[in-house]
Amino acid sequence: MRATIASDVIEVRPLSNTIAADITGVDLAAPMSEAVFDRIYRAWLDHQVLRFRDQVLTDPQMIDFSRRFGELDLAPIPGHGKAFVEGLPEMFVISNVVENGSPIGSLGDGECLWHTDMSYTPVPPKASCLFSLEVPEGEGDTGFLNMYHAHETLPETLRAQVEGRTIKHDTQYTLDGYDRAGGPPLAEAKASGTLDVAALPGSSHPIVRTHPETGRKALYVGRRQNTYVNGLPLADSESLLDALWAHVEELGARTWHQRWRVGDFVIWDNRCVMHRRDAFPPEVRRVMHRTQVKAEAAPV
Ligand code: SIN
Repeated sequence: MRATIASDVIEVRPLSNTIAADITGVDLAAPMSEAVFDRIYRAWLDHQVLRFRDQVLTDPQMIDFSRRFGELDLAPIPGHGKAFVEGLPEMFVISNVVENGSPIGSLGDGECLWHTDMSYTPVPPKASCLFSLEVPEGEGDTGFLNMYHAHETLPETLRAQVEGRTIKHDTQYTLDGYDRAGGPPLAEAKASGTLDVAALPGSSHPIVRTHPETGRKALYVGRRQNTYVNGLPLADSESLLDALWAHVEELGARTWHQRWRVGDFVIWDNRCVMHRRDAFPPEVRRVMHRTQVKAEAAPV
């Protein structure tokens, strides 16, 4: 039986000027008092991303710790219709590994562009957690961007243009262009000239949202693909989105990127953080387990 950790042994060490902190002195598999968890939760709200290194966690232990942040979402079911981890519907696998002809996880080895998880849903998750089981050395880093900072540094002209506006986040196509409604893939719809971004089904959220716990304002743009600023002619929506994304990309080029080691547990606040991942060589193995915490309400 492992000992409960005292709150005075944990330390919070910022990892950059704008985002992320390491928490040391914590074994996430051990029982944890409310006092320790409260310190961790406060640090998470303050730094938006927390990293806990050298953790040894089973899937149920990862689920138990993630659940301290709130009720968990069920993981999306992959295309082949079977959960990635049998008996644990909360657990999602991100991996490029193929075993017996079937991928053991999602997202492959390609670059994942800047995005917020599941912005296309009516109530996107509050938090996402990743635990690294196998990682290639020096490859497949994950970047995190502070969207409070993105809002604070938004040029005045853009700030005026986004005031009171919402973005519609497309529910029809996945990031890799698969049509959830069963139609032809996105590339085909684009090539045929039939794609009307403004008419796609989606969830609309404010471009500037207020964090329900900190009260701070954050820029909320989801992902670039197939988004639309409600109420604008398409060309105006595209140019406003391009300007917002230029701002995001510019900050993103300078933000903190996590270089993974086996045993890293990272949790980020999906309400005020965007993330991206570098591509990595297809021949190396990368296996991450992910949980997501439900938000209490839609963004406002
Ligand atoms: C993602 O959630 O976009 C992928 C993160 C990662 O694989 O590091």
